[in-house]
Amino acid sequence: MRSTTVLSSLALWTSISAATYVLEDEYSMTDAFFDDFTFYTATDPTDGYVDYVDQSTASSAGLISATDGTVYIGVDSTNVASSSGRQSVRLTSNKAYLHGLVILDLAHMPGGVCGTWPAFWMVGSDWPTDGEIDIIEGVNTQTMNQMTLHTSDGCSIVDSGFAGELVSDNCYVDASGQSSNEGCAIESTLTDSYGTGFNAAGGGVYAMEWTSSAISVWYFPSSSIPSDITAGSPDPSTWSTPQASFAGDCDIDSHFLAQNIVFDITFCGDWAGDVWSDYSTCAALASTCDDYVANYPSAFNETYWSINSLKVYSSSSSSAAATSAAVYGSAALSSSAAAAAATVPANPSTFVSAPSVTAAAATTTAAAATSATDPASQGQGQGQGQGQGSHGFQGEFHGDYSAGSHMPRDIQPPLRRSSVQKMRKTRRGYGHGHGHGHF
Ligand SMILES: *[C@@H]1O[C@H](CO)[C@@H](O)[C@H](O)[C@H]1NC(C)=O
Repeated sequence: MRSTTVLSSLALWTSISAATYVLEDEYSMTDAFFDDFTFYTATDPTDGYVDYVDQSTASSAGLISATDGTVYIGVDSTNVASSSGRQSVRLTSNKAYLHGLVILDLAHMPGGVCGTWPAFWMVGSDWPTDGEIDIIEGVNTQTMNQMTLHTSDGCSIVDSGFAGELVSDNCYVDASGQSSNEGCAIESTLTDSYGTGFNAAGGGVYAMEWTSSAISVWYFPSSSIPSDITAGSPDPSTWSTPQASFAGDCDIDSHFLAQNIVFDITFCGDWAGDVWSDYSTCAALASTCDDYVANYPSAFNETYWSINSLKVYSSSSSSAAATSAAVYGSAALSSSAAAAAATVPANPSTFVSAPSVTAAAATTTAAAATSATDPASQGQGQGQGQGQGSHGFQGEFHGDYSAGSHMPRDIQPPLRRSSVQKMRKTRRGYGHGHGHGHF
């Protein structure tokens, strides 16, 4: 009798602990995709040399499109840029999510090109109180993906449970001993996880699982996507060790509230621009990042997202979709989900770019994973190590920078490279201090 009870308890525990995910949203891989996002057209909070355009401008200029079940999000790669910057887009999902499993299947990503700073990330409506989750991010010729959280005080992570390399462990944007807005960051050690190497491998899948106990990110090259993902019944408990897993002294649920999904491609600014001179291969091309980005449009013909699918799963054992009436920037749009859902750019007067919840249940289009070989690329270690040779940081360069938050700090001006920063350049974080704010 007793052992029977124990057994059934164990069985129950097992079934609860293995979260079962059910599809909540599959974003349409047609032009309707863009109706589920808001085009951000305000000044880039991260000081980028970029001109974020609205939907109709982006569409007519060919910066966005959907063909054959693939969504394209790119930048202007034909015109010399004006003083306002290179044309690009920054998209924020109309719907926000709380917990869940976000799976992005990409045929191609931007990045790996001098001057670029793309990211696929999530952010709450009240930054940093509601948290920020950076899933894909990098600058210039970086080849390994960096994953980062930015939070309010009281959230730090431990260096275990993931395959990547810890860059910084305090997620608080004002953590002492870290650069302003550095956040907690983990860098992949896989040279096909970002930019050029990723694309050479035929793309791949990024999966981010967010539970009350951890936020984890997996990367799978297109040649080795788990079959449960392809089958549409993902079970993270069966996957390999994640590239990043953020957990430790952090109450996830109090630091991460409803998050909107963001795709952006910016140029230069507080991260890519600030470290321009450290990337010698880039610095050799032009004296400043802005000069290069302005005058060499064709250099950015590979600076685009090509999305095979974007699916959000929710745990069948927990409430999933966020229903909070997220405040859209200033109070102006806070009560209008319809306004947030509109394709008309919203121009929030504060840096907060997360529109509120809209039931934008997307439709259709499964995406078959493409297959390709996984090149044993030496990208980062060699390319950037080489670039850093004069500074004596060979092969370590990629770890010298922490993530740049996409959200600004309006408390202090953006840090520029200085002798102080150079002195602080260590394996654990250069503390670039990029991604601070303006406004
Ligand atoms: C971008 O330009 C390079 C160099 O001309 C070319 O090899 C490559 O195919 C181009 N890519 C696209 C997507 O057009």
